[in-house]
Amino acid sequence: MSIDKAYNSWAGQYDTNENKTRDLDKTSTIETLSKYNFKNVLELGCGTGKNTEWLIPKAKRIIGLDFSVEMLEIAKKKILNPKVKFIKADLTKDWEIKNQYVDLITSSLTLEHIDDLNHIFHQANQKLTDEGIFFISELHPFKQYSGSKARYETENGIEELQVFTHHISDYIENAENNGFILLEIKEWFDHKSKKEIPRLISFVFQKKK
Ligand SMILES: C[S@@+](CC[C@H](N)C(=O)[O-])C[C@H]1O[C@@H](n2cnc3c(N)ncnc32)[C@H](O)[C@@H]1O
Repeated sequence: MSIDKAYNSWAGQYDTNENKTRDLDKTSTIETLSKYNFKNVLELGCGTGKNTEWLIPKAKRIIGLDFSVEMLEIAKKKILNPKVKFIKADLTKDWEIKNQYVDLITSSLTLEHIDDLNHIFHQANQKLTDEGIFFISELHPFKQYSGSKARYETENGIEELQVFTHHISDYIENAENNGFILLEIKEWFDHKSKKEIPRLISFVFQKKK
C-alpha cells in the first residue's frame, strides 16, 4: 500500500492507539523547542496536528503540510485556530511556500518515509530565514537496524509502512551540504533508561547566514 493510503487508513486510530514512538516524540518536541523563540512555523508531515496544538501559543503563524487527506481531516477538525493553515502537499515535490518565510521548520516521524534527504534539506534552506531553525525528531536508526518501523493494527493483522533507513551521518551530511550547521543532537530513551536502544533521535540544525 502507498504511504499516503496507509496513513489514510491509520488516521482514525493514530491519536488513540498505544504508540510509544508518537508519545516520546511529543516529549522530544516540547523539551527541545521550549528553548527557542519563533514566529512563523512550517510543520512537515503534520499528521493529525499532535505537535501543532503545542506550537500554537508560541507561534504567530503555522503551516502544516501533509499528503494524507485523512490525517489532515482530523487535524482540521481538532484545530480551528486562525493562526494555523493545513495544506495537502507531497514533501518529495517542491514546497509551495514563499522563500525565506519561516523561522522554524519541524519534522516529526516523517523523514523515515522519505528517501531523498537532500531534497528535504534543500527545500528547508529555501523556506527558512537566515539563522532559522530546522528541528527533526525521528525513529532512531538503531531501532531501524533492529527492524522497527511505523506500523498499525488492522482487521487483517499488522500493516507495516514503507520506510527508508537514514543513518545519523546521512542527516548531518545532507544538512551540511545544504547550508546548515548542527546545534543539537539528542537520543531519546523509553522510561529515560539508557540501558535500552534509544527510540528516537532529534537534531536541531540552523541555517547559516
Ligand atoms: C508518523 S506520522 C507523524 C505525524 C506527526 N508529525 C506526529 O508526530 O504525530 C507521519 C506523517 O508524515 C506524512 N508523510 C509521509 N510522507 C510524506 C510525504 N512525502 N509528503 C507529505 N506527508 C508525508 C504522513 O501522511 C503522516 O501524516
